[in-house]
Amino acid sequence: MSLSGGSFADFEEKARLAASQLLSIKPDESLLLISHLDADGLSAGSIMMAALLKAGKSPHLRIVKQLDESVIKDISQLRPRFAVFTDMGSGQKSMLGKMDGTTPVIIDHHQPEKMDKDLGFMEVNAHLCGFDGSSDISASGTAFRVALKMDPYNALLAPLALVGALGDLQDKGERSTLTGINAMIAEEAEKAGLLGIKKGLKLYGFESRPLIKCMEYTLDPFLPGLSGDEGACFKLIKSIGIDPRRPDGSWKLVSDLSKEDLKQVINGVIKYLISQGLSSREAESIVGAIYVFTKEDADTPLRDAREFASSINACGRLGKYGLGISICLGDRSRALTEMKEVLQEYRKSISGYLNWLSTNKDATKILPHVQAIYGGTAIDDKIIGTLASIAFSIKPFSNDKPIIGFANSDNVVKVSARGTADLVRRGLNLGAIMKEASEKFGGAGGGHTIAAGAQIPLGKEDEFLRMVDEQISKTVSGVKL
Ligand code: C5P
Ligand code: C5P
Repeated sequence: MSLSGGSFADFEEKARLAASQLLSIKPDESLLLISHLDADGLSAGSIMMAALLKAGKSPHLRIVKQLDESVIKDISQLRPRFAVFTDMGSGQKSMLGKMDGTTPVIIDHHQPEKMDKDLGFMEVNAHLCGFDGSSDISASGTAFRVALKMDPYNALLAPLALVGALGDLQDKGERSTLTGINAMIAEEAEKAGLLGIKKGLKLYGFESRPLIKCMEYTLDPFLPGLSGDEGACFKLIKSIGIDPRRPDGSWKLVSDLSKEDLKQVINGVIKYLISQGLSSREAESIVGAIYVFTKEDADTPLRDAREFASSINACGRLGKYGLGISICLGDRSRALTEMKEVLQEYRKSISGYLNWLSTNKDATKILPHVQAIYGGTAIDDKIIGTLASIAFSIKPFSNDKPIIGFANSDNVVKVSARGTADLVRRGLNLGAIMKEASEKFGGAGGGHTIAAGAQIPLGKEDEFLRMVDEQISKTVSGVKL
């Protein structure tokens, strides 16, 4: 398959060089892996962990909320011989330059920091080869390409490469398909019998779960009024004119529906989403590519690749890093039971925050070019990003302007910024805005054009937001007033 935009040969060469450096590490040399807490970070960290263990190395894995000075300080105290950063590092190269006695290896997909002089770090990042790290490949995809160069046996890790891409919402091709290097990885995984690619309603477990359950469980896209609410899903299906139960009282699966009934369900769900304020384009995007991990049991949350990603994301966002890693590394016994409980807790926590947001009107601020959620101490700083993404589909937020979420985090404010593909097409670069605006307040930030983050001092939210508003008005064409 052909890949447009960048040089895949250059990218593969960088992956090969990183692989050979990692393979040359001696078994007794200390090696620390550092990764991010979301689905992409946990899968990327797990891929490197699996590949390094298989190669006889002795890695330790640490999961962090973000790469900041305090993480660098911790690493400097540990003084590992090598520190491998996955899903982070490219935006913080000047910080990594301060580590003494530790050689960094960066495996990332964020926009790289522009440096005055080359620090000579090993860095595998698709942006450096002409690709877009927010859509062509994720950190876990990048780690996967490195792992493949370490040992072709690691091809078995392809599902994790796709978990990261889907967790980072990179399925932005036509009909919600993966594109670029992600599509190539998916195609190879399909050929290897690890993946099925189908078309249908993008509801979690659409193929294998009762109709109302797949609606209730779906978190991405978040279905306003339906996600997490079995009763509401039951009512909707009934109102569409379909009985959600079989004559024997058990729940109907999609395979129980006639072609006509299925069409009716699809149209009914789309109409419902439009009634909740989604544009027809967004509502229709509920029909699209479904990625199925064929080696996973049908009745688990790991069969549907998007649900796998949400599950791992839930582990990370609730601080259960070890659990997320165990699942990625293949534990399907007690870890799976625990993960189902974590998913339940995650759904509850999101509903709780959404309730809080709808009853605390002061927590919402709408400026001419940006909208914001002031989470303060009420919203967990690990979940504010998820909430900012979901807020696009709830009132009073709209798709016309980016959403900035604030939440207190220790003694700073965590900022999460989210945009839409349309805003990015019109010039939005949240990564650049977060970096520039946060640095003006002595903070730090970065990320992708469509999703980025920062840390700023406590109490600076209003000033920061005004600055972001101004930046957006200057850089994005036609932002609605
Ligand atoms: O660190 P990393 O790149 O993995 O994180 C990107 C984050 O932004 C993810 O948590 C992902 O879900 C989120 N995102 C989003 N909306 C997008 C793209 C990414 O909320 N359109
Ligand atoms: O934390 P959150 O999910 O909002 O992060 C969105 C994106 O911004 C992620 O890709 C994250 O790695 C990136 N980010 C960053 N620098 C920060 C905070 C977040 O590059 N200081």
